[in-house]
Amino acid sequence: MSILIDADPGCDDALAILLALESGLDVVGLTTVAGNAPVEDTTHNTLAILEFLDYDLPVAQGADRPLIKRQDTAEFIHGENGIRGELPDPSSRTVDESAAEFIVERAREHGDLTIAALGPLTNLALALSIDPQLPKFIDRVLVMGGAVAHAGNRTPAAEANLHADPDAASRVLQSADPTFVPLDVTSQAILRPQRLELPATARGETIREWLTYYPEDSRKQFDYAGSPIHDAAVIAHLTDSVLTTERSYLQIETDDSPSRGALVSDEFGVASEPANASLATDIDEQRFRDALRGAIETTL
Ligand code: RIB
Ligand code: CA
Repeated sequence: MSILIDADPGCDDALAILLALESGLDVVGLTTVAGNAPVEDTTHNTLAILEFLDYDLPVAQGADRPLIKRQDTAEFIHGENGIRGELPDPSSRTVDESAAEFIVERAREHGDLTIAALGPLTNLALALSIDPQLPKFIDRVLVMGGAVAHAGNRTPAAEANLHADPDAASRVLQSADPTFVPLDVTSQAILRPQRLELPATARGETIREWLTYYPEDSRKQFDYAGSPIHDAAVIAHLTDSVLTTERSYLQIETDDSPSRGALVSDEFGVASEPANASLATDIDEQRFRDALRGAIETTL
């Protein structure tokens, strides 16, 4: 299984990347997108995370704004410049291609690429417009995004990644048969640092900061028992099949309304439409914690 990670690091993106690499997944490259922070920062953070983990992989910088609307960032959750912890200033650079071009190239090269999309879906939507044949070269697309029965975390109706670029998300939904991994399950993807023996080193402290990135007031606001590592739930499904998924007819609200960016699932089949995607409905929390704990222990 060849995997491309499209991300906007982000503390939970950082742990997702750690999990993918330390679990031995065949990561063929990473692409970056504006999301938790401007794309210059998410790119810098991606290169720095790879150096922190001691991996040398190609990184392509992607979209600096959503397809249509204004950009929105989340440094108030993830820290200044979009990430917490002490990271090296990266010495590596991005490849020359844009993220969208890189996705198309890698998909055509591998023929059965798995894409783990951990931020707004702008790059993937752009890749689909460059190459409408792209779905033929993709095995599956897993997306951290959406809030179905769970309330939204960016607006009352919408989760941050889908709210950031609903037009792109809708484009991906129309042609890539994605699997959405919504807040309904990722809000349970929590690993408390007390369950780990993190050394009192800069490295251990950085990982502790990633695991506890939600500020206290945000954690209380969302009534979370810890900091959900949303993006790592997608990767843990690739390494350890931690999710239960079902086929569903999904829609994304793109109108300028209070529900813009909402993910709507036809749970009872009342729309009488065929399923167009998969939806994660449950997570094995113990398997998730074991997978992430094991990967962190490997990296220490
Ligand atoms: O809503 C959670 C998602 O938004 C995660 O991917 C987080 O990194 C942010 O991008
Ligand atoms: Ca993310």
